[in-house]
Amino acid sequence: MSIRTLDDLLAEGVSGRRVLVRADLNVPLDKQTGQITDDGRIRAVLPTLGALVEAGAKVVVCSHLGRPKGAPDPQFSLSPVAGRLGELLGAPVHFATDTVGDSARSTVADLADGQVALLENLRFNAGETSKDEAERGAFADQLAAFGDAYVDDAFGAVHRKHASVYDVPARLPHVAGRLVLREVEVLSKLTSEPERPYVVVLGGSKVSDKLAVIEALLPTVDRLLIGGGMCFTFLKAQGLEVGTSLLEKDMVETCRNLLERADGKILLPVDVVVADAFAPDAAHDTVRVDGIPSHRLGLDIGPETVAGFAAALSPAKTIFWNGPMGVFEMAAFAAGTRGIAEAITKADAFSVVGGGDSAAAVRALGLDESSFGHISTGGGASLEYLEGKTLPGIAALEN
Ligand code: 3PG
Ligand code: MG
Repeated sequence: MSIRTLDDLLAEGVSGRRVLVRADLNVPLDKQTGQITDDGRIRAVLPTLGALVEAGAKVVVCSHLGRPKGAPDPQFSLSPVAGRLGELLGAPVHFATDTVGDSARSTVADLADGQVALLENLRFNAGETSKDEAERGAFADQLAAFGDAYVDDAFGAVHRKHASVYDVPARLPHVAGRLVLREVEVLSKLTSEPERPYVVVLGGSKVSDKLAVIEALLPTVDRLLIGGGMCFTFLKAQGLEVGTSLLEKDMVETCRNLLERADGKILLPVDVVVADAFAPDAAHDTVRVDGIPSHRLGLDIGPETVAGFAAALSPAKTIFWNGPMGVFEMAAFAAGTRGIAEAITKADAFSVVGGGDSAAAVRALGLDESSFGHISTGGGASLEYLEGKTLPGIAALEN
């Protein structure tokens, strides 16, 4: 791998130079208040931004937030992020109210050495995510005009072939930021001879999102523990009834096939918490997986499952966890995720938590982040890395 790093760029000297930084500041916002509910991704880019500020660069930060459809949409504005970033940096962040328009041009032009600007949401522009090379390229030209060098520190977005991730580095001298380097370093430990037993815990709602990674991991892992909404499609594949639980009908056959090939490596829940409705105050009970009532839906794994999964995790030397075990945002259905998280911290293992939701769960449940080996800022990105896929953002840095 021939990736130049932030240290290489700093060694050349960046004082007075404009450095365009692609960050992943896609943080969760409270739907009612618009407040940032977890600022982990903002904190994760501080080492890179701090080093550039210190070195006297004019720092131009860009990011996406949510999935607006190529046009401005106020609910996805990065404005609250600019405020929080300024607080964390201890200096105001100059916010451009557009991405490549008049506001962006004057904001960048007015930057003094050591100051930071944040451009408005990249995805307010159709060119950012376009499949059309020329449309993406035209937008990348406009972005590249704001920098003399480019730093990619958006690990959470390296799996996206988007203008700011893939096309801008082709137009500017480019390096990997501290966060991207650290993430790749950690994940590469999991793919190259992980210390055994290597146990992977997968949760979250959709099997279809995790299929490729399950396929890729099966030959490498010693144990694969499956919880979260996706476990019901696997339980169905075992011939069980899952009531009104989340079910991907067209995945049942694939799950059956995976279970057959898994050689007993896949562990599924033996009990689940079922509720009358998807609501924090819904009546709920713990039942065996062969006794899920037809009118109820599973919202968490049960205590016996937690104990079984914990026993599988306890001898592990390497652990990767992606996806909550239940609807942890609702207190009644958080015990599974908490129990698994605690079991991971108790194991004498190198543990990696992958993904926005799992990382947010760790913090929302008040668990000690430092008791995990690494908390990745990338969900999809870390899964695609483990699948062995080429990540467009990393490939672009290698060129
Ligand atoms: C994420 O939240 O996984 C990253 O920010 C990428 O966002 P996306 O899935 O909308 O591309
Ligand atoms: Mg995502």
